[in-house]
Amino acid sequence: MGIDPDSVRHEQLKAWVAQVAALTQPDRIVWCDGSQEEYDRLCAEMVAAGTFVQLNPARRPNSYLACSDPSDVARVEDRTFICSENQEDAGPTNNWEDPAKMKETLRGLFKGCMRGRTMYVIPFSMGPLGSPIAQIGVEISDSPYVVVNMRIMTRMGQAVYDVLGTDGFFIPCLHSVGAPLDPGQADVKWPCNPTAKYIVHFPETREIWSYGSGYGGNALLGKKCLALRIASTMARDEGWLAEHMLILGVESPTGEKTYVAAAFPSACGKTNFAMLIPPQSFNGWKITTVGDDIAWIKPGPDGRFRAINPEAGYFGVAPGTSEKTNCNAMATLRENIIFTNVALTDAGDVWWEGMGPAPAHCIDWQGKDWTPADGKAGRKAAHPNARFTAPAAQCPSIDPAWEDPRGVPISAFIFGGRRATTIPLVYQAFNWSFGVYMAATLGSETTAAAFGQQGVVRRDPFAMLPFCGYHMGDYFNHWLRIGHVVEHTPKIFCVNWFRMDEQGEFMWPGFSENMRVLKWIVDRVHGRVLARETVLGWMPRYEDIDWTGLDIGKAEFEGLTRIDAAGWKHELAGHKEWFDKMGGKLPRQLALKRDLFELELTG
Ligand code: GTP
Ligand code: SPV
Ligand code: MN
Repeated sequence: MGIDPDSVRHEQLKAWVAQVAALTQPDRIVWCDGSQEEYDRLCAEMVAAGTFVQLNPARRPNSYLACSDPSDVARVEDRTFICSENQEDAGPTNNWEDPAKMKETLRGLFKGCMRGRTMYVIPFSMGPLGSPIAQIGVEISDSPYVVVNMRIMTRMGQAVYDVLGTDGFFIPCLHSVGAPLDPGQADVKWPCNPTAKYIVHFPETREIWSYGSGYGGNALLGKKCLALRIASTMARDEGWLAEHMLILGVESPTGEKTYVAAAFPSACGKTNFAMLIPPQSFNGWKITTVGDDIAWIKPGPDGRFRAINPEAGYFGVAPGTSEKTNCNAMATLRENIIFTNVALTDAGDVWWEGMGPAPAHCIDWQGKDWTPADGKAGRKAAHPNARFTAPAAQCPSIDPAWEDPRGVPISAFIFGGRRATTIPLVYQAFNWSFGVYMAATLGSETTAAAFGQQGVVRRDPFAMLPFCGYHMGDYFNHWLRIGHVVEHTPKIFCVNWFRMDEQGEFMWPGFSENMRVLKWIVDRVHGRVLARETVLGWMPRYEDIDWTGLDIGKAEFEGLTRIDAAGWKHELAGHKEWFDKMGGKLPRQLALKRDLFELELTG
């Protein structure tokens, strides 16, 4: 079982593993092979340890529930560091520390941190094995939960060593939950370090060190750490893009296929949009899913941007997912799933807020009894950031080309956040650089906004604020330049599904109905539909959108698409404040565009 380390011929990799073992002092080392047997064995071990509960196989075959420590439920942005040689290169949006100093701190923390535990060596590929767009990583972790999640989220196992050969390039990803065990000390079900957490990136040397957390993006290092923070730096150096984007295909009744990539901030609907099912009136239209969270995009030999989903699974938000909001996700979740921080029903299945009628009784994510009365009192059964880990191949809408090593051709980029006011339902940027401006100033509101009150807008440029591995101003410049590297520059659109009326109700039905906007986008890409020119860009007229089967009148549409001058004045002041933070690295084009918008809006 596992891989015989003697069969690994990559000396540099072996030396790194030996070095880490000497530092962290694990009881044993397991070289993971990524097999089903290994997965099943680790799951059984975690059931025995209390980390996993096996769900009722009659209801949810081969599936498990893990509930984390309450101190370890999400990414920790304030403990995330970009340790470039010069502080300037990390920019104003990242935490920075001198790399030598940080390494010293980390060496202190990692010293002996795996005592009493098993150290797993996890070889993985982000992207189809051998694709020219793919990258290889090796994660060392003392968490079996990480191993089984990585098996779903990445292409993991023996085949990676075959691609690596004796001297192939890989990104070393070191992870520990930071909870060594003394001899005889009993383990807890979710080991982590409640006081010391460090998610650290060394962009120049392409290294990742993560300490103290076992949850999601903090611990599954292929995802945000490698595929976004390190990859964005590699992409800048090498002329490509690593983005927080879903990728979907739109198939028309005539069989025309158009791929788009869309960036929405965390928990703003990427998974929903990627798996959209068109409304009934859109007979013959079909959406196919390439990815739901990350896109790697390279200029292709055909003069188009070619995109792959570097992941092999979905680590999606569970609450709010239902047959109504995301039927494809629900079908994906039928078997072979790891759930984290949802509730356990008496029938041995899972439940979360927004899934459907609440069970009369269940065990909440913290292991306590829960009834609908607790729900009424405001106690949630599932943590709001509860997630599922699901194999992408199980998704009914998976695109036939989702593993094409060449990637799919991208015709449009879409940007959107949660905005109760100001931002219209949809508009198209006049050209690439206007589109970059829109994306650079993308904002999203905290969802806890009180009734009728505008939430706090956080600027989340390109939905990459927590994920860009270098100076945000340099990133904007990279985007401005790269649009002209390809012959067929994608069109850029902005959307907002979250506009609210005076009563604090969403004005747009969203979900399936987003197809109506997506169809307009696709029609624009192919030059099939007119638009009206506004100060912001091109917008649909009422009659340009197919309304069959949806009761939205002209007045409502006007409300959804209105450019409110006072709101935009405020918005542009926000852009200025945000740009001022970028300092000297802000592209001059963007500053000038802001002034231009202001002049045009205020006359
Ligand atoms: P990460 O995995 O965190 O990067 O996020 P994501 O962008 O994939 O988020 P996800 O799809 O899980 O977002 C789910 C949230 O968005 C839920 O609260 C949904 O109800 C909400 N949502 C998704 N689509 C729509 C929509 O069209 N309209 C409205 N009003 N809400 C939506
Ligand atoms: C996000 O926060 O954008 C996620 C979840 O996709 S995690 O992988 O935990 O970062
Ligand atoms: Mn994400």
